[in-house]
Amino acid sequence: MGSDNIVMSKASAPGKLILFGEHFVVYGLPAIATAIEARTTAIVEKADKYSLEDNRPETPGYKIEKYGQQLDSVQRIFKAMRINPKKTPVKITLGGNLVAASGIGASAASCSAIAAALNDYFGLGFGKEKLNDIAYEGEKGYHGTPSGIDNSCSTFGGFIWFKKDQAKNTIFPLDLKLSLAMVIGNTGITSNTSKVVGEVKGEKEKNPEKFKTIFDVYTGLVDDARLAIEGKDLNEIGKLMNKNHGLLREIGVSCKELEELVDIALKNGALGAKLTGTGRGGLMIALVEDQNARKVAGAFEKAGYKSKITKTGAEGVRVE
Ligand code: MEV
Repeated sequence: MGSDNIVMSKASAPGKLILFGEHFVVYGLPAIATAIEARTTAIVEKADKYSLEDNRPETPGYKIEKYGQQLDSVQRIFKAMRINPKKTPVKITLGGNLVAASGIGASAASCSAIAAALNDYFGLGFGKEKLNDIAYEGEKGYHGTPSGIDNSCSTFGGFIWFKKDQAKNTIFPLDLKLSLAMVIGNTGITSNTSKVVGEVKGEKEKNPEKFKTIFDVYTGLVDDARLAIEGKDLNEIGKLMNKNHGLLREIGVSCKELEELVDIALKNGALGAKLTGTGRGGLMIALVEDQNARKVAGAFEKAGYKSKITKTGAEGVRVE
């Protein structure tokens, strides 16, 4: 337990983008995600009583909306690490340049960074596999039954091929150095993952045939996507992103703002565009050639949306 010499530990973890397969991943179909450059930092330091200070930049309203879930999440992380914050109180401070918004893995990045900072502070010696399990426990505080893709991507970084399984999830790092330019468009709407996931489940129960057809199409699509990513075929990746967005629209998780952003991206020369993460608000991503990134980002801003240019394949959680 708590090292006497360490008075402060700091760790950081990246945000993520789901390139293929949000929602489908919940039903055991594979998905592909990548870590991005923006990171959340967690500082753990000695204190008289436990406290949490959240200095992350945010989509207005995000932190208030998630506050109760965040408290639950941190308690779950303490429990998973067998830390008693009453006996060994610490102050946790969150910061970094990852904007807390729906769709970017903000909750997962914070869980992963907190777990790694606590691990260092208390000298627990856990490796990444265990830290990922702990971050997953933390994620449950935010959305009940997460697939685990967000925390896995934030913990391991790079590109991951992820498949949820009852017994053990498959987390397969795609071994490649691929730095794709992405423009993120933000609807400004905070979405509620467990609510949207629950509604998709309801739709699926009402329309099993429709969902079976969509799942079959997606299963072929994600295999093609993996080949396209491994082959660094940007045009093909873009086309498949467009198709994936169409399937997400069919299951009812797009919205007017996401459609507008996707449309703007494609009209301004993006190679592909889709919503990313939960949908019904949150974020979308546009795959662009480097030289076109500013044009697409500018077009989003002109239409009244916030934008961010980022690169894929960033490093996973680390102690700073
Ligand atoms: C949320 O980032 C992605 C979803 O597929 C939910 C999950 O995987 O837990 C919508």
